[in-house]
Formats: sequence, structure tokens, C-alpha cells
Amino acid sequence: MTSKRNAKKVKESVTVKTEIVFPNDTNPMGILLGGRLVEWMDIAAAITAQNHAENICVTAQINNIKFEHSSQVGDIIHITAKITRAYNSSMEIIVIAESRKSVNSKKQQIAIGYFTFVAINKVGEATIVPKLMPITKLEKQLFNSALNRKFK
Ligand SMILES: CC(C)(COP(=O)(O)OP(=O)(O)OC[C@H]1O[C@@H](n2cnc3c(N)ncnc32)[C@H](O)[C@@H]1OP(=O)(O)O)[C@@H](O)C(=O)NCCC(=O)NCCS
Repeated sequence: MTSKRNAKKVKESVTVKTEIVFPNDTNPMGILLGGRLVEWMDIAAAITAQNHAENICVTAQINNIKFEHSSQVGDIIHITAKITRAYNSSMEIIVIAESRKSVNSKKQQIAIGYFTFVAINKVGEATIVPKLMPITKLEKQLFNSALNRKFK
């Protein structure tokens, strides 16, 4: 498989998704359920993958999700999904979730994880995606470290 398309930048596919925590997203203590947060992260990552691939993408793997802080009913959750590396048909997406109590309060990172998506064609077969061109220092660091995460 070889791509005839030009390499794309990270910023071309970034997704930012905002949610508010409702009672049906929480446990009996009013704390946001991990599974609900992963669902929101997966959707944000899927949109980023599809933006990059310009094709339908499916989740192939979810790795190293760390839940660092909890969130409660009423908190606002910001989820940012960025591509770190594109291979042939697969892509790694880093997803960071942040929470804040009200419109003006400071955001706190509550979770981070790495999602692998595969672009598929109309019959569900893996299909080529554009290469990624990392530009900033952080984008280059994530691009390089993606290889360690893929093959560990
Ligand atoms: C992901 C999927 C399309 C891969 O199909 P496949 O026939 O195994 O494809 P291939 O073996 O040709 O691999 C294609 C690419 O997927 C990657 N891949 C396949 N399975 C993977 C997995 N479990 N984790 C990470 N990458 C995976 C391969 O490394 C390869 O990457 P590359 O093209 O960038 O080198 C297929 O396994 C599938 O449809 N899985 C279910 C996806 C789904 O429904 N997800 C929703 C949750 S259930």
C-alpha cells in the first residue's frame, strides 16, 4: 500500500469535544463513570482519525488509559484528540480529558489515553491513510514515541 496523498498536519484533524456530566453518567456517589468517559474519548478520537484518513475508521486498540482525577455531576468535560502518527492504514490518537467546575474555573486534566484506529473501505477492508507531518517539538516527540507504544 502506498499513499499518493500529501502528508497532513496534526492541526488539520484535531477534535475538541465538550460534555456536561449528568446524573446518568455517574455512579451512586455522583462520580463520572470511567466507561462513559472512555466512550466520549473514543468518539473524539474517531472523529480525529476520520478527519485525517478522510474515510470511515474503526477502533482497533485502546491503551494506557490513566484516570488521574474524578469529576462530579455538573462538571464540564473538555476532550481533545490529536493524531500522533499514521502508519499504512492505522493511526495512533492521543486523547486528553480535562474537567472544570463552572464556566470560569480552571481546567484540570482528568484522563489520558492512546487509541489506535484503522481506516476501512466500503467493504470493511483496511485502506491506506495519508502520512503525518509533525511540526512542533511536542508533535515530533509524540510521533517518535508512538513507535515504542506500537511495538511494546
Ligand atoms: C481493525 C480491522 C479493520 C483490521 O483488519 P485486519 O484484516 O486485521 O487488517 P490487517 O491485518 O490488514 O491490518 C491493517 C492494519 O490494522 C492494524 N491492526 C489490526 N488489528 C489491530 C489491533 N488489534 N490493534 C492495533 N492495530 C491493529 C495493523 O497493524 C495494520 O496497520 P497498518 O496498515 O498501519 O500497518 C479489523 O480487525 C476489525 O474490523 N476489527 C473490529 C473493529 C471494530 O469493530 N471496532 C469497534 C469496537 S468492537
